[in-house]
Amino acid sequence: MTRPVSVLFVCLGNICRSPLAEAIFVHQARARGVEGRFRVDSAGLGRWHEGERADPRSIAVGAARGVEVLSVARQIRPPDDFDAFDWLIAMDRANVEGLTRAGAAPERIRLMLSFGPSGVVEVPDPYTGTARDFERVFELLEPACAGLLEWLLDHDERAGTIGE
Ligand code: 4NP
Repeated sequence: MTRPVSVLFVCLGNICRSPLAEAIFVHQARARGVEGRFRVDSAGLGRWHEGERADPRSIAVGAARGVEVLSVARQIRPPDDFDAFDWLIAMDRANVEGLTRAGAAPERIRLMLSFGPSGVVEVPDPYTGTARDFERVFELLEPACAGLLEWLLDHDERAGTIGE
């Protein structure tokens, strides 16, 4: 038996980008029949939106593509989250810095788009933007989540078939 691989998606407010990333990842893992190999959550560096559902624009852009965004915002909880999660997936470099400053081990942190095909490095913060900015976030996240899922299945023996 293997335990699930745990993945925490992290952004600033935990209402726009990381809830969408979490929802897309879960959707894709379910579609591939591997959802049970993962424990997935999301959190924000800030606590302004604790307890709130995701931004309606994130919920809408997901719903339009069959992805249900269910998360309720919370702030990261150091050091518990850093002990509990195998991987911390940051949306931009500022998130990486925030996680590092809060005490996360650098080797557990990855940039979300490092798993994507594009030359884009950061998922732009859409909070003060338009619906189109949220669509762009989805378009960046979808292939990156697929890449992350593939990478975890290939490279993290806890997610792969070893031990089953
Ligand atoms: P997120 O977007 O980090 O993608 O959830 C933001 C949401 C809220 C704020 C900033 C970014 N805010 O300052 O409240």
